[in-house]
Amino acid sequence: MSHANSIDHYIEELRRVTADTSDEDQIIARVGPLAQHVVQHKDWLQPKHYETDSDQGFGVHLLHEEPDHTLAVFIVAWLPGRGTPPHDHGTWAVVAGVEGVERNIRYERLDDRSRKGFAQLSVKHDFLADPGDLVSMKTGGIHAVLNETDRVTLSLHTYGKHINHTNRSQFDLESNAQKAYLLTVE
Ligand SMILES: [Fe+2]
Repeated sequence: MSHANSIDHYIEELRRVTADTSDEDQIIARVGPLAQHVVQHKDWLQPKHYETDSDQGFGVHLLHEEPDHTLAVFIVAWLPGRGTPPHDHGTWAVVAGVEGVERNIRYERLDDRSRKGFAQLSVKHDFLADPGDLVSMKTGGIHAVLNETDRVTLSLHTYGKHINHTNRSQFDLESNAQKAYLLTVE
C-alpha cells in the first residue's frame, strides 16, 4: 500500500492502535515507535511548521485531528528561551523530538486534589530530549517544555484528543494555582 506521506500512514496506524485498545499504557507503547518513525522520515515537514508565535512563545501547527477532535497531531515550533508553564493534557500524550534539544521537566502532584484551583507540584524528572527521543504521558501526567537553545526547535505532539477540547490545566509553581490552559493553534 502506498501513502501520500508518512503522516498519512501515521494517522492510519493511530486509528488501528486506538481501535485495538483503550489502555493508555498499550497505546503509548505502540504510538512511541510510530512517532519516532515519522520524525525520522520528514517528508511532511514544511517551512510554515517553523513559524512561531511570540505572544505564546511557540507556534502550534495542527497536522491532523479526527472530526470528534480525537487523534490530534501537532508540530510545535519553540522560540529560543521560551516554553510552557507546567501543564497536563487531559488525555494521553506522545511527544517526539524533530529538531534541536528541548528540556522536559516532569512533575508529580503532591496535594490530594480536594481544593479547587489549587495544586502542589514537585519535580520528578528533568532531562534534555534530542531529536528522536520520546516524552510520553498518560492522562494526568504533568510536564513543562523549555527551549534553552539559541534556535527554534521542533517537536511532534500526538494526543488522544485535541488539547483545546480536554479541559486541561496549567499550574503556577509559586502560587500553587491551577487554571485552564488553552493554546493558540495555527
Ligand atoms: Fe505538554
